[in-house]
Amino acid sequence: MRKLVRIGRLELGVYNVKGQIVAVRNLCPHAGAPLCHSRATGTVVSPAPTQREWAYDGEILKCPWHGWEFKLPSGETLVEPKYKVVTFPGRIENGDVVVDV
Ligand code: FES
Repeated sequence: MRKLVRIGRLELGVYNVKGQIVAVRNLCPHAGAPLCHSRATGTVVSPAPTQREWAYDGEILKCPWHGWEFKLPSGETLVEPKYKVVTFPGRIENGDVVVDV
């Protein structure tokens, strides 16, 4: 589940990742794509040269422009962890979603 919210000039995608609330800046660190227009999904990993398996179901944001994948809630890319999208922790309080920006 994802919701886009705007706070001044900052646009965030707010995701519920397996019960953990995380907000993601809607700006891909590669070339500025609107990263949060995609839903959280999973990805295919290769634990061995001839093996492929589905992993991180519901924890991956895939950029719509060039396909970089970011793992939630950390925001790190899977292939090059030095590249990271900005994330903020959140929680549910009295039925409301609260994000610490
Ligand atoms: S702009 Fe996101 S991967 Fe290129």
